[in-house]
Amino acid sequence: MDLSDAIRSRRSVRQFTGRPVRREDIERLLEAAVLAPNHRMTQPWRFSVLGPEARRAYGAVLGARKAHRVEDPAAAQAVVDKVVASASALPAQVAVAMTLSDNPEVREEDYAATMMAVQNILLTARGLGLATHLKTGAVMEDPRARAALGIPDGQRLVAMIDLGEPSEAPEPKPRRSAAELTTWLP
Ligand SMILES: Cc1cc2nc3c(=O)[nH]c(=O)nc-3n(C[C@H](O)[C@H](O)[C@H](O)COP(=O)(O)O)c2cc1C
Repeated sequence: MDLSDAIRSRRSVRQFTGRPVRREDIERLLEAAVLAPNHRMTQPWRFSVLGPEARRAYGAVLGARKAHRVEDPAAAQAVVDKVVASASALPAQVAVAMTLSDNPEVREEDYAATMMAVQNILLTARGLGLATHLKTGAVMEDPRARAALGIPDGQRLVAMIDLGEPSEAPEPKPRRSAAELTTWLP
């Protein structure tokens, strides 16, 4: 697929077919990830490919967070079970972490580079006929999530990428035009 077509047709997808994602395809995504631009070549990105056990463990953390305010224990357990079931059903999932430099400037650049690596994954996946959903949020800081994913001290969990063959084709979200957001300087 042409790169421009991949950029235009990429969507965040929530529904996947049950087809497993081939290991070679995941390897291709990660090989594309490590080609991202990277000031000082710090190569800060770290990837974990979750197997069924890890998807379940991470799902249990998401479920526990979601059930936090549910008072009735049976209802809370039902919430956890539902989230674990949907996490377990994902065809594939990749956790993206980054090393943490002591230098704040490098740290910021490394975060940017890691997100560029993420974009390489999303677009390469699209080119392979796969779909993705990038997710972040407060769970990234949750020690239970770090433990479920084995993120060591000295690394920051940056994002989760759900991955699989899409079973839905979401409409594009409305976006402001580039022209409207661009100033051409003399
Ligand atoms: C840094 C980042 C974090 C995101 N985190 C989440 C998330 O936690 N949960 C979620 O449902 N979507 C998340 N998204 C996906 C966006 O909601 C999605 O990209 C946006 O709605 C535009 O839709 P599209 O990706 O289909 O164009 C995230 C996207 C980015 C770039």
